[in-house]
Amino acid sequence: MLDGGGKQGMRTQVAIVGAGPAGLMLGRLLEQAGIDAVIVERKSADYVLGRIRAGVLEWGSVDLLERAGVGRRMRAEGLVHHGTALSFDGDRLHIDFTGLVGRQVMVYGQTEVTRDLMAIRQGLTIYEAEEVELHDLDGQPAVTYRKDGVAHRIDCDFIAGCDGFHGVCRASVPQQALTTFERVYPFGWLGVLVDEKPVDDELIYAHHPRGFALCSQRSPTRSRYYVQVDAGERVEDWPDDRFWDELRRRLDPATAEALQTGASIEKSIAPLRSFVAEPLRFGRLFLAGDAAHIVPPTGAKGLNLALGDVAMLAPALVEALIERSSAGIDTYSARALQRIWKAERFSWWMTGLLHVFPDAGAFGRRIQRAEFDYLARSRAAQQSLAENYVGLP
Ligand code: FAD
Ligand code: PHB
Repeated sequence: MLDGGGKQGMRTQVAIVGAGPAGLMLGRLLEQAGIDAVIVERKSADYVLGRIRAGVLEWGSVDLLERAGVGRRMRAEGLVHHGTALSFDGDRLHIDFTGLVGRQVMVYGQTEVTRDLMAIRQGLTIYEAEEVELHDLDGQPAVTYRKDGVAHRIDCDFIAGCDGFHGVCRASVPQQALTTFERVYPFGWLGVLVDEKPVDDELIYAHHPRGFALCSQRSPTRSRYYVQVDAGERVEDWPDDRFWDELRRRLDPATAEALQTGASIEKSIAPLRSFVAEPLRFGRLFLAGDAAHIVPPTGAKGLNLALGDVAMLAPALVEALIERSSAGIDTYSARALQRIWKAERFSWWMTGLLHVFPDAGAFGRRIQRAEFDYLARSRAAQQSLAENYVGLP
C-alpha cells in the first residue's frame, strides 16, 4: 500500500524501534496479549546476535523469560549461581546469596536470551532498516525508514523506543522535555571471550592497584574475562598474550595459577557510564532499556533493567489498547524510574568499590579498603550487596 507521500505503508498497534533484549521481549509480551507490534531494527539479525554483552540474569528476569515462553533452553543450559567472590588486593571474600537473602542469579548470556526471543517471535521484525525516523509523537504517531532503497511508513498507536543509548528515539524528544543525569567514568572494560573452562565455579570481581578485573563465564566450557583499561585504549593494542598477562597480575595467586587461557573468540572495549533520562514518556513514545538509562556493568544490571522496563511497559500498553485505560501508561515512567535509580545507585557503588580511579588519591584508596574490610566483617553489609545483586523486588 502506498501512502500520500509515495511510501509503502502499513499499520500496527505498537511500533517498536530496536531488536535488542528490550524490543524483542516487549514484542513477545505484546504478542502473548494479542497486541500487534512491528519491530524496526537498524542492524541485521546476525549482527545483533554477534554482540557479546551481559551474562547474569536476576531471578525476576528468569521468571519473565519463563512467562514469555522462552525458558526451556535457559533452564537446561543456564548456570544457577548461589554466590559470588570479591577479591581486594588478593584478599578473597565470598558473598553467599542463598545464605544471605535466600535467592540466586542465573548465568545465561544476553546472546542466548536474544536468540531465544528471536526464535519464538511470530510478528514482523524489519532488520537492516535505515534512516529510521519518528513522527507526530503527540498525535497520530508513525515510524518511517528505508529498506533496500524503498521508503516505508508504519502508522501506529504507540511507539516503544528500545533502540539503545545511541538510538533515534530519545534523540527525537525535544531537548527541553527531557532531563538527563550522567556520569562518565575515565575507564572502560576490555572483554575477552574464550572457549576454555571458567577459572572458578562463581564469578570473581577483583580490585587490584593495576585496576579492576572480572572472571565471568557463559557455560562450563566458555569463559568471559574483563580488565579495566583507560578510556583511550584500543582493542588493536591488546593482543591475547598482553590481555592474559594483565588479567593474571590482577588476580590472587591461586586464581592466576588456575586460569586457563586460549585464543580469544571475541574481544571488545565497552566504555563505562551512568546515565538516566527523565521522564520515560513523551506523548505516545515510551523509552525502555538502554535508550533511557545506562549503568556501568559492574553490578550486572543493564540487561535486567531493560527486561524490567518492558515487563512494566507491556501490561500498561495492553491496558491502554484493550481496556482503553491510561492508568498504566500514565504511571509507567515514575514506577520504572524508582527501580532504575536503585540499580543506578548500586552499579555506581560497586564500580566505586572495585575500580582504580586516577584522581582518587591516597585518601580515596584508604576509603575503598575500609569499605571492603567493612563488607568482609558485616553480615548487614553483605546482605545489602546480595539483595541488590540478585535484584530488588
Ligand atoms: P540494546 O541491546 O542496545 O538494543 C538496542 C537495539 O536497537 C540494537 O539492536 C540496535 O542495533 C538498535 N538500534 C539502535 N539505533 C537504532 C535506530 N536508529 N533504528 C533502529 N534500531 C536501532 N550489561 C551487563 O549487565 N553486563 C555486561 O557485561 C554488559 N556489557 C555491555 C557491553 C556493551 C558494549 C554495551 C553497549 C552494553 C553492555 N551491557 C552489559 C549492557 C546491556 O548489554 C544492555 O543494558 C542491554 O543490551 C540493553 O538492552 P536494550 O534492548 O535496551 O538495548
Ligand atoms: C559478563 O559475564 O559479561 C558479566 C558478568 C557480570 C558483570 C558484568 C558482565 O557484572
